[in-house]
Amino acid sequence: MDAQGWEEKYASTTQLWRTEPNQFVISHSASWPAGTAVDIGCGEGHDVVWLAKHGWTVHGIDFSATAIDRLRQAAQHAGVTDRVSGFVGEAAEIFAREGWADLDLVLLSFLHFEQLPQLIETVAQGVVPGGRIMVATHAFALPWHPASFVAWTGADLIDRVHLPDFGVESSTRLETELTDKNVTRVDDVVVFRRHMAQ
Ligand SMILES: C[S@@+](CC[C@H](N)C(=O)[O-])C[C@H]1O[C@@H](n2cnc3c(N)ncnc32)[C@H](O)[C@@H]1O
Repeated sequence: MDAQGWEEKYASTTQLWRTEPNQFVISHSASWPAGTAVDIGCGEGHDVVWLAKHGWTVHGIDFSATAIDRLRQAAQHAGVTDRVSGFVGEAAEIFAREGWADLDLVLLSFLHFEQLPQLIETVAQGVVPGGRIMVATHAFALPWHPASFVAWTGADLIDRVHLPDFGVESSTRLETELTDKNVTRVDDVVVFRRHMAQ
């Protein structure tokens, strides 16, 4: 879906996603020291706010101005506006403009387009030695996903992403039975970690 499609989707409702953070953000980051993070395609910001409440400074980027407005409201409600900033626009363009080079974490959750490996390689340039990129994907399309949806397994991503300065720290699969819809949702989470400087 393009930027306009996402904006229309957010603007058509008062809340598109649930307010809870993604479980894999909680479980993976529990053992990581808080630092500076970017959440790419952050939507209404449930992961951004959760990380900020746990001491991180977080930049959220999304195509949708409506989603970023909701992120700002959620940050205000949680009392973390000093650690949260929102950016509206295309992620690679915002990265190039902001020139971030101090990132301990880049989070990319459920971005389903063909150029995802290239975007990961672009944002990797802003990650410090020892920093991480966490990518969560639906491994298979679900019945309601649009025709333009590109499913990514963790294995496919690891194969396609060229990150010579990084290693794969973990690669996990989560299966969730959606009993009301009679399908199993399969999500892969890959964490790439930048090698420490020699
Ligand atoms: C499926 S939603 C995921 C939202 C959130 N990360 C989550 O886990 O609930 C994908 C989001 O990414 C945004 N998005 C997709 N491609 C983007 C891009 N290239 N630059 C900025 N935002 C993008 C969309 O506007 C949408 O809000």
